[in-house]
Amino acid sequence: MPRPSQPTALVTGGNRGIGFEISRGLMAQGVVVTIGARSDSEGRTAAEALGCRFTKIDLLNPDSYFDSYAKSGGWDILVNNAGILKDVSLLDKGSDFDEAMEVMVAAPLDLIRLNTPHWRRTGWGRIVNLSSSLGAHERGLQGPGAYSVAKASLNALTRVLVRDLPAGVKINTCDPGWVATRMGGPTAPVTVEEGADTPIWLALLPDDGPTGGFFRKREMAAW
Ligand SMILES: NC(=O)c1ccc[n+]([C@@H]2O[C@H](COP(=O)([O-])OP(=O)(O)OC[C@H]3O[C@@H](n4cnc5c(N)ncnc54)[C@H](OP(=O)(O)O)[C@@H]3O)[C@@H](O)[C@H]2O)c1
Repeated sequence: MPRPSQPTALVTGGNRGIGFEISRGLMAQGVVVTIGARSDSEGRTAAEALGCRFTKIDLLNPDSYFDSYAKSGGWDILVNNAGILKDVSLLDKGSDFDEAMEVMVAAPLDLIRLNTPHWRRTGWGRIVNLSSSLGAHERGLQGPGAYSVAKASLNALTRVLVRDLPAGVKINTCDPGWVATRMGGPTAPVTVEEGADTPIWLALLPDDGPTGGFFRKREMAAW
């Protein structure tokens, strides 16, 4: 099926950082964006700044995204952008393993499952997962344990889901680089605009574009 003239998109964690910039970039290309944010006030403020819609989504609370999905009726583009990173050992009592897996693996899968009937109806969809070089086996999974395991799992999910998604739906994962956001810190060398470029490109891939890949700077990256 052809791309809808005004595709709709949900960008999780769209209230700041790379998600905010992805939302801005998609809107500039005619996409009707809804940002998901867990804080009402931050979500509304960001949506006002962007001129887009806002839905309250806390990825640790499945009721919140079931509710958002029910109200929206589905999205053409799903950007699983929200993420957390804590520098704690997996063996520490304070490990954020459960939270990391929920926010960056289980909730993205839930959102994909919820939205699949919409994609079956429309026959066109794009899923973009925000991963990291810290989730790449090729680079030794060098990040904090929970973060690296979650991002490697998100990459695995991307590869596996290719065979189950309806025709016309592409799914890809990407590494935005080391980006100057709250997560990346102020000294990171990549701007949010540069970090958002590959996810925006993946969200609007033409029908002959790739699926099931891992991308960095619009190029295939090693898993
Ligand atoms: N920055 C980098 O250098 C870098 C490098 C590689 C990959 N990435 C990935 O890129 C994505 C965006 O990162 P960023 O740098 O923009 O990070 P960020 O500035 O820290 O923003 C993270 C976003 O995720 C949201 N979030 C966290 N937990 C959530 C939850 N339970 N429910 C809903 N939203 C939640 C945050 O919401 P709140 O505002 O409410 O906290 C925020 O909107 C992440 O997946 C990250 O892992 C970033």
